Amino acid sequence: MITRLRSFLTIRVLNGGVANSLSSHLRVISCQRISSMSTKPKVFITRRVPESGPTLLKTQCEVAQWNKDDPIPRNELLSSVKGVDALFCLLTEKIDGELLDAAGTSLKVVGTMSVGYDHVDLQACAERGVKVGFTPNVLTNAVAELTVALLLATSRRLKEAIRAVENGLWGTWKPMWLCGPGLEGSTVGIVGFGRIGMAVARCLKPFAVNCMLYTDFAERPAEAKEIGAEFRSLDEVLAASDFVLACVALTPDTKEMFNKDLFKKMKKTSVFINTSRGGVVQQDDLYQALVSGEIGAAGLDVTTPEPLPTDSPLLTLDNCVALPHIASATHNSRGAMSELTARNILSALNSQPMPSEIKAS
Ligand SMILES: NC(=O)c1ccc[n+]([C@@H]2O[C@H](COP(=O)([O-])OP(=O)(O)OC[C@H]3O[C@@H](n4cnc5c(N)ncnc54)[C@H](O)[C@@H]3O)[C@@H](O)[C@H]2O)c1
Repeated sequence: MITRLRSFLTIRVLNGGVANSLSSHLRVISCQRISSMSTKPKVFITRRVPESGPTLLKTQCEVAQWNKDDPIPRNELLSSVKGVDALFCLLTEKIDGELLDAAGTSLKVVGTMSVGYDHVDLQACAERGVKVGFTPNVLTNAVAELTVALLLATSRRLKEAIRAVENGLWGTWKPMWLCGPGLEGSTVGIVGFGRIGMAVARCLKPFAVNCMLYTDFAERPAEAKEIGAEFRSLDEVLAASDFVLACVALTPDTKEMFNKDLFKKMKKTSVFINTSRGGVVQQDDLYQALVSGEIGAAGLDVTTPEPLPTDSPLLTLDNCVALPHIASATHNSRGAMSELTARNILSALNSQPMPSEIKAS
């Protein structure tokens, strides 16, 4: 078996020269080049991901993988995709014409382990007949849960509170100290009432929110009724809400939509939460709005760029809480995302309908 595989595989280690034995390559495949004799489709995975996806792919495919936690350098990626049938990628990889051309005509499907697909040029994929899969639903509740956690961390000033305890600033119980707005009796405004926006609204129900507002391209009457949310224009949502939650996808329309004009329309006490994409916020305007008191506070799971540089002015502010893009980071969610990405790829390779395909509009 091993002798046969030796002849089939030209193994190139991309992972710092570890795993010299063939058996360890087969256990944790850093990167394999499959010889032209192989009849199995070739898949390249661009990162270390939960095993559910790679394990499933290996049942039918020859799998090569950038087996590190940090992104594969672009040049390495361009050479690694040459001749593959499928690409398993993350939101950190730009899937554009250059990459698709580097892969060549063998490429049939790109599966991104994310629900956001602003990093994928859908038009370029469609022009080359490359299908694209993504991972909606399996991360929705995890993202909603983190959105609520971030909202509470921001409004209830947990960053300042934890620092105070750790830095010896906790004197005694003080009636006026570290107060912030509560959810009870508040108005919450959700911008983008899609899967995650609706899930956040459902998660917030037990907090005795007085009024749940949403805005989107169109009303969603059935879901809104079940959730108890009311449709309003964007301006109405901004003006009325104590908490404004960005749950839109990043598109040319929503790019930097949260800018100084929008912050001016919010209450001066409003708490702005963004768990969608950093690109929907004009970050300099956000900083100014936070410093000038145009809005009360901001909680960000996503920023531009990522990682947010440690000298970012946003990090100097007590009223800004930043997290390192962890909204979907539950064990179950990430495992399910990996598996769904693999199922998308296998379905496309087998000319079956993909469980979650994105189509260019
Ligand atoms: N922080 C994270 O780790 C994380 C995890 C998952 C998803 N996300 C982000 O969350 C986004 C939403 O995910 P989803 O599954 O809810 O997607 P979705 O497509 O179900 O929801 C997005 C909603 O935004 C609406 N929308 C788009 N443009 C709009 C505009 N200009 N004005 C008002 N509404 C607009 C859409 O109509 C849709 O209802 C993803 O695109 C992704 O970028 C972030």
